[in-house]
Amino acid sequence: MADAADSITLDRFQANDLVIETKPDTTPVTDADKATEKKIREIITQYRPDDLVIGEEFGAPDPASDSSGKYYWVIDPIDGTKNFVRGIPVWATLIGLVSPDHKVVAGVVSSPALARRWSAAEGNGAFVSTNGSAAERIRVSAVSKLEDSQLMYSDLIGWGLRKDAMLKLQEKVWRTRGIGDFWSHMLVAEGAADIAVEPVLALWDMAALDIIVREAGGKFSNIDGVDGPHGGSGVSSNGKLHSDFLNFLDGKQE
Ligand code: IPD
Ligand code: CA
Ligand code: CA
Repeated sequence: MADAADSITLDRFQANDLVIETKPDTTPVTDADKATEKKIREIITQYRPDDLVIGEEFGAPDPASDSSGKYYWVIDPIDGTKNFVRGIPVWATLIGLVSPDHKVVAGVVSSPALARRWSAAEGNGAFVSTNGSAAERIRVSAVSKLEDSQLMYSDLIGWGLRKDAMLKLQEKVWRTRGIGDFWSHMLVAEGAADIAVEPVLALWDMAALDIIVREAGGKFSNIDGVDGPHGGSGVSSNGKLHSDFLNFLDGKQE
């Protein structure tokens, strides 16, 4: 599925005739987002016809209300569409497989313009493949103090009451970068960064990230500390920094 996605997205990246529309939530969507999700859905229907599918562009039944006991696939055909439409190569196709008890059991993040693909399956570790090479195992960092950590985020939008704490954190940590989207979290999984955070996200933004970060030895929760990708926001860390980071964000720690 990731190979099929890459060939569609790479072909349309920076195409002069890229069709860009605005969705009701005022965010952009391109013909590449739609074609990619359609292709992935076709492959799932062919090979796993009994599984459910949740995708950003073509329908997202609420998984919590599903009691059919089925596995479900969670697809973000292009994460980073705003980068995609402006020619910034930080975008990826995210695919997660979630068990009937709502735990992510496998995931892939494929970023062909960065020539990187990350993947993980429950109990098997997390891996990165560069330029199509053999996958190499990745692990989170061992940094244990906020003062020594690199914090990745997207931007200062959506922080609400936590915005001041987020600004304070930027002075507290060793270094910050607004790299954003999936890449922030994959850098945590690789041990290149230590914390990645976004205050407002959907399940499809996070399902694949959750298992890759966890299988790399890290932790994934929402900003209230609830584990998993179902909580409307996303925090990845190397595990050691997780509670200090969340406590600081909540003003419980200086
Ligand atoms: C967006 C990215 C971004 C987040 C936005 C999402 P999209 O996804 O995940 O990091 O800040 O809230 O909508 O629209 O590019 O798939
Ligand atoms: Ca997304
Ligand atoms: Ca998307």
